[in-house]
Amino acid sequence: MEFVTTHQPVALGQINTQPELLKRGPVTIRNLQDTEEDCQFSGRLMVEAFERKFIHATSKNSLPKIQELFAKMSRRRPPLYYERDFIAEYNGERAGSCVLRYHGDKDLFPDRDQDMPPLGCSDSCGLACLNCAVSGEDIPRGKCYVDHIGVDARFRGRGIGKVLLDMAEIDAKRRGCKAIYLWVATSNRAQHLYERQGYVLMEQYSLCGLLWCQTGEKEFARMEKILM
Ligand SMILES: CC(C)(COP(=O)(O)OP(=O)(O)OC[C@H]1O[C@@H](n2cnc3c(N)ncnc32)[C@H](O)[C@@H]1OP(=O)(O)O)[C@@H](O)C(=O)NCCC(=O)NCCS
Repeated sequence: MEFVTTHQPVALGQINTQPELLKRGPVTIRNLQDTEEDCQFSGRLMVEAFERKFIHATSKNSLPKIQELFAKMSRRRPPLYYERDFIAEYNGERAGSCVLRYHGDKDLFPDRDQDMPPLGCSDSCGLACLNCAVSGEDIPRGKCYVDHIGVDARFRGRGIGKVLLDMAEIDAKRRGCKAIYLWVATSNRAQHLYERQGYVLMEQYSLCGLLWCQTGEKEFARMEKILM
């Protein structure tokens, strides 16, 4: 299948002016925008795609607040923040998202206290532990990290995840990266998608007791693809 990139490479920090970055059939990829609609979608998707993990770490009652947290976290950020965040539309409807991180991003986009919703004590603690378990050290130079990828359940299995991963590779290459990697729970069938995309298993990692308790997952795999 043909795909078309609709813009030229841009220098790091330069804002994309073209809304459409990649189009393949009914799937269009663009950057997240600092709008209520985009950020609410992104927050909802994050919670829906990883609902099991959030319920395990907090409670079902806290899901609306966590969704609100992710929506707020994406508002009023520097322009570079929105270049890292991709939205997939399927026939013009928001359907998926993918967030990339590069070396140094941890300092550029710190967590903000004011975004934190008032959760109960044990849910706040659970969320903090989950955050600690899934956010590791900074990204190595020359590598791109797929921080998360999610597709609305109504749209899964239609190739949107693959187009988002293609977009991630295009962006990573444009920024001079030689490899792209991600972490995935070994119980997650998304591994099939990553394998088909050319990612290979680099290492498996078992979380220690407390973090295992907080995430509900014990085994994670790091998968990486060398970019040609
Ligand atoms: C993983 C995900 C982003 C893939 O998006 P998609 O548009 O369905 O992907 P594609 O149609 O391009 O490819 C289909 C592949 O996606 C994966 N997939 C599909 N539904 C899935 C689901 N509910 N959970 C996990 N992976 C799924 C499978 O690998 C599938 O291939 P398979 O049928 O051979 O097993 C999407 O399914 C999703 O959001 N899952 C829940 C969140 C998640 O697990 N994210 C990945 C964390 S590392």
